[in-house]
Amino acid sequence: MAVTLAFDVYGTLIDTHGVIAALEKYVGDKAFAFSATWRDKQLEYSFRRGLMQNYENFAHCTRSALDYTSAFYKAELGQNDKEALLDAYKVLPAFDDVKEGLARAQDSGFRMFAFSNGSADAVELLLKNAGIRDYFVGVVSVDEMKSFKPNPAVYSHFLRRAGAVGSEAWLISSNPFDVIGAVSFGMRAAWVKRSADAVFDPWGIEPTVTVHSLLNLAEQVDRERKRI
Ligand code: 2OP
Repeated sequence: MAVTLAFDVYGTLIDTHGVIAALEKYVGDKAFAFSATWRDKQLEYSFRRGLMQNYENFAHCTRSALDYTSAFYKAELGQNDKEALLDAYKVLPAFDDVKEGLARAQDSGFRMFAFSNGSADAVELLLKNAGIRDYFVGVVSVDEMKSFKPNPAVYSHFLRRAGAVGSEAWLISSNPFDVIGAVSFGMRAAWVKRSADAVFDPWGIEPTVTVHSLLNLAEQVDRERKRI
């Protein structure tokens, strides 16, 4: 049976900092810091909603996080400004290595899915807009479980939906919390460490492999499969 790859979307395929150009208009040279806080709060809100069992979808977390970040930076964004930024978030760009990396993985015979905190509609739109939707057999969203990563139930849901088993299914993610969640659940995982400055959480759980670009992914996963 072909090996299954579950690609994380936000931060792995799609560059959430792609919103910086739009932010510069409102917050000038604070755009990078604003974007980082927005992303951190978006994830924090997803974790908290998961723990509280008080589900609202990921777009809701993104919107609440924008409200927080706007207040934190005293940005005085009006409702129209916020809507413009949320619209920009729906059509973020893919990282430079993504198209070629996915093409190589497809040529190597992997079954590829997008697996995200984002709702299926939002992820479909992002992938289509970035010109990469056709590489994937399907989109699996945590929204179907009304919870978020790294709840083990959402990784289990992914396996069921993909018709895969943990030992032959790999999560591909730049987000250490996602890699740790997948390995803790029983999947394999590749950590995509694009920046030399990225730090993996000290958790006592390591990625199965670390890749510095999606260009090397297929080769490294193949090599590791032969070893284990
Ligand atoms: C995703 O699931 C974690 O944001 C990340 O797409």
